[in-house]
Amino acid sequence: MQSSNVKELLSAKQLLQEVSVNGWVKTFRSNRFIALNDGSTINNIQCVVDFEQFDENLLKKVTTGAAIKVSGTLVESQGKGQAVEIQVNEITIHGEADPEEVKLTILSPKRHSLETLREQAHLRIRTNTFGAIMRVRSALSFAIHQYFRQNEFQYFHAPIITGSDAEGAGEMFRVTTLDEKKPPLDENGEVDYKEDFFGKETNLTVSGQLEAEAYAMALGKVYTFGPTFRAENSNTSRHLAEFWMIEPEMAFYDLDANMDLAEDFIKNVITYVLDNCEEDLKFLEKRLLDEEKTKPQAERSEMALIEKLKFVADNNFKRVSYTEAIDILRNSKPNKKKKFKYPINEWGADLQSEHERFLVEKHFKCPVILFDYPAKIKAFYMRLNDDGKTVRAMDILFPGIGEIVGGSQREERLDVLKQKVAELGIDEKELWWYLDLRKFGTATHSGFGLGFERLVLFATGMGNIRDVIPFPRTPQSADF
Ligand code: 4AD
Ligand code: MG
Repeated sequence: MQSSNVKELLSAKQLLQEVSVNGWVKTFRSNRFIALNDGSTINNIQCVVDFEQFDENLLKKVTTGAAIKVSGTLVESQGKGQAVEIQVNEITIHGEADPEEVKLTILSPKRHSLETLREQAHLRIRTNTFGAIMRVRSALSFAIHQYFRQNEFQYFHAPIITGSDAEGAGEMFRVTTLDEKKPPLDENGEVDYKEDFFGKETNLTVSGQLEAEAYAMALGKVYTFGPTFRAENSNTSRHLAEFWMIEPEMAFYDLDANMDLAEDFIKNVITYVLDNCEEDLKFLEKRLLDEEKTKPQAERSEMALIEKLKFVADNNFKRVSYTEAIDILRNSKPNKKKKFKYPINEWGADLQSEHERFLVEKHFKCPVILFDYPAKIKAFYMRLNDDGKTVRAMDILFPGIGEIVGGSQREERLDVLKQKVAELGIDEKELWWYLDLRKFGTATHSGFGLGFERLVLFATGMGNIRDVIPFPRTPQSADF
C-alpha cells in the first residue's frame, strides 16, 4: 500500500479505507491517542490505538519525537477537533527518541522562546511555528517563479563568485585559496592575488544585478533568484550575512514601468500565499496576536496578519519622491520634538529605518515607493536625472519591515556612466564588460532587488529575520 501524507488524509472524502502514513510523534496521550505530523500541513492526524492489541514494548517506543509508520482504517473521528482519525492496526518504529533526551531539547512539548529555538535550528523545524513559516517560504518561492514565468521572463543564474563589487559598498566576503598564514607577496610586499585561484581578487556576490543587465540586453526580461552575501556588521532583526534576493532586470523599461512591475509582483505573490497557505497563516496570525498581548498597546499592530496581507494586496502603494519625503520628515512631529536618533535637517540626508518606518507606519499607513534619490547616497549605476543631482532610484518601504525592495533605472549612457565611475575612483578596467554593454546597442533598462527574507518576514508576521531562513548566518554565528 502506498503511504499517504497527513494533509491528504485530513481532507480525504472516502472513509473506511485502509491507509498508512509516516511521520513524527507530536504527543502520545493516555496510551491511546497519537498526534502524528509529517510536515505536509500544520495539522496532526489523530491515530487511535487500542493498547490491549499491541505489545507494551512497542508502545513504549511511541514517544514525542520518534519517527513511526502507522497503518489502519481511516474513520470519522469520535472526538472533537478533527473530522477523521486513523484506527490503528499496525505501528512500525522507524527511529526512537529517548524521552529523557527529548526533555532537554525543543522537541519537548512546551513553549520555547524563539531564541532557544534558534540554538536548535536543526530541530526547530519540527515545531508548529517553523513548519508554518517554512511552508509559507516555500510557497512564496514557487509563487515568484510562477509570476515571472507567466510574465514571460527568463530565469537566469548569476554567478556566486564574482570579481566585481556590484553595489560598490565594499561589504564582501573574500574567496581565496591562498595560504592565510603565508600568502605569496608581490614586489611591494602586498598579497599577490595573481597567485590566487582565479588569478585575481574574488568575492561572494553581493548582487547579481550587473550580470543580469548583460542578460537583459539580450533576452529582454530576466530574473535571478539566488543567495547573496554581505559582510556588513549589522546585527539587526532585518539583516543577514547570507540572504536570498530576487532580481528582475528588464530591457526597455523606465523607472515608472519598473515601479509598476515591482508593485504588481509583490501583490501577486502575497495573493498567492493568501490563497494557498490559509491554515499556516491562521496559525501565524494567532501566534502574533498571542505575542503582542505581552506588549504595550502602542507597539501592537493595527491589523491582524491576514488583514494586513489583504490590505497590501488590494491597495495601491503610495509613490513619493525623495524630496517630498524629506519635506514630510523635516516637518514631522518626531523630528521637531527631536525624537529621531538622526534628525532630518537638510536635503541629501540618507534615510534611516526610523525615517522609513515613520513614513510608512505613521504618515501614509501603507506601503510607500520612494523615488528620485540624491545621487550621492545611491550606487554608481543609477541613471542621472536632468537636474544633475538626483538619480532614478526607487526603494519600496513596508510596514514593520522598512526597505523591502531597492531598484533603479540604470545609466545607459556610456559617457555619463564613465564619468560617474571616474568620480567614485572605481577602476574602469574592472568594469570593462559592464561598460561594453553601453557600447553595443545600449538601451533604457531597469530592475530591482527584493530581499526574499524580508518578504517572508512580512508574510509570516515574524519579527526577526533569523526566524524566516532555515539556517541563518549573522555576525558571530554560522552554526549548523
Ligand atoms: O538595496 P539593495 O542593496 O539593492 C541591490 O543589491 C541592487 N543591486 C538590486 C537590484 O537593483 N537588482 O538590496 C536589495 C534588497 C533590499 O531592499 C533588502 O530587501 C535586501 O535586498 N537586503 C537584505 N536582506 C537581508 N539582509 C541583508 N543584509 C540585506 N541587504 C539587502
Ligand atoms: Mg537598498
